[in-house]
Amino acid sequence: MSRLALKLTALLVLLTGLPLAVAWWQSQTLFERSLGAGLNPVVATALQDAVGVYGAFVASEKGRQRAVARGLADSRALATAAAAGPDALRAALVPVVADPRVGAIELIATQGPPVRQAGRPMPTDAWLLDTEVVPLTGVPGYTHLRYEYGLERAVLTRFEHMEADVIRPFSALAADRENLADVYTYSFVGSLAAAVLIAALIAVVVGRRLTRRLRRLREGMARVASGERSARVTPAGHDELADLAVGFNAMAQRLEDSHARVQYLTQVSAWQGIARRLAHEIKNPLTPILLAVQQAHQSYKGDDPRYRRTLDTAREIVEQEVQTLKRLVEHFSRFAKLPAVSLTAEDLRGPAEDMVSAHPNIAGLAARLPDAPVRVCVDKGLLRQALTNLVKNADEANRALAEADRKVILTVDPCPDGGAQLHVDDVGPGVPAADRDRVFEPYVTGKHDGTGLGLAIVKKIVLDHGGEITVGEAPTGGARFTVRLPNPADAPVAPRTAPREEARP
Ligand SMILES: Nc1ncnc2c1ncn2[C@@H]1O[C@H](COP(=O)(O)OP(=O)(O)O)[C@@H](O)[C@H]1O
Ligand SMILES: [Mg+2]
Repeated sequence: MSRLALKLTALLVLLTGLPLAVAWWQSQTLFERSLGAGLNPVVATALQDAVGVYGAFVASEKGRQRAVARGLADSRALATAAAAGPDALRAALVPVVADPRVGAIELIATQGPPVRQAGRPMPTDAWLLDTEVVPLTGVPGYTHLRYEYGLERAVLTRFEHMEADVIRPFSALAADRENLADVYTYSFVGSLAAAVLIAALIAVVVGRRLTRRLRRLREGMARVASGERSARVTPAGHDELADLAVGFNAMAQRLEDSHARVQYLTQVSAWQGIARRLAHEIKNPLTPILLAVQQAHQSYKGDDPRYRRTLDTAREIVEQEVQTLKRLVEHFSRFAKLPAVSLTAEDLRGPAEDMVSAHPNIAGLAARLPDAPVRVCVDKGLLRQALTNLVKNADEANRALAEADRKVILTVDPCPDGGAQLHVDDVGPGVPAADRDRVFEPYVTGKHDGTGLGLAIVKKIVLDHGGEITVGEAPTGGARFTVRLPNPADAPVAPRTAPREEARP
């Protein structure tokens, strides 16, 4: 695991564990205190006393009823009534059974059926029935008295409930007190461990993800640092790390662009040196060669027609080739002597319009310009040279078409970043995708009389302006050369010309 993931895990575990541990300690104290408050001997005694009160109430109620039964059995009135016959006996019992707690009274006779006097019926769901049997000693003809009475269930049920719901659970709890504390501790420690474990797991997963993305970024940086300028990272997600990746890619792109620019300018500077030397070496002998041939032509005074013809042809060829070479030398010199840019703020529409009016001989040349000015920093002279080269190339590419069908369109567009772009579109065959980088290299030409210097000069001028040039397809079907010039605020203040070799004599 990476250091970051480790730190994250430790932090998360601490953040979850610490408050939980404090909560445990606090609730442990609280638990002990409340257990102590509930499960103490005072409460137990109070509860037992309450049970005792109910028990005493039941016992006294039974005792009272028993005493009533005994009193009745021993009463003189009962003996008198018994002597008067069963009907009188029943009548004597009526006041006793008027008590709602008395169900019935029965006297068991020595002979014959018992004499019974019932009170109000006592349903068993409301009354708990009991019977007291008392032997009769002073009542002739009768042996026992059965006294049936009831205890009110409502009172008893409350007592039973109290026993079942309060006292028994309380006793169980009190007996289990130690166990209870353990269970509480274990369950708390268990939840604490589970929470910490889950936190650690989350931290590990999040940490892994985070470090994976950071590692990718670091690898990308290492690759760029080691010179692999095209290395990029894939931005994942929608957070600051993704922004960082996007920012890194943009930086790498700028690095790559500026490296390509410096490389190109250095190369061009070397080629300029070669062009200068070539121009110099070719130019010097041209005039002596021409003079020598012209002299030879003039000094022949003979009349051999064949020899004169040979001399004529030789002079013609040499004059033509010298002319071509002079043109080449001029191209080389122009390429070699490209001056440093001197920038002034201009409305780009001006140079585009000037281009159209300066080349009435180019068929179909037109400019499409916006209404508002498009301000950029340019070296007017160098920009004119670059545009001339582009327009001439476009015209040459159009040559296969009839004059009426030819089109060279110059378009000026402001860019959202404050810069501007200028397109030169034609209706020729276009530049094949595979050649689009190569055409800007010096001496690369597809024409039998081309020098391949035109686009190299254009690119050098554009780069010196802090801009860039690309070639693609025009909406008109031919090639589209696009020159992008930077926002005037970003224009190079100092000339961007690569160091030039000292001119040789
Ligand atoms: N507008 C264009 N359409 C098609 N091909 C073009 C165009 N402009 C340039 N090229 C190709 O790029 C080559 C290099 O152009 P350039 O550097 O101006 O040199 P040159 O014109 O002397 O050949 C051309 O020879 C041509 O093959
Ligand atoms: Mg050209």
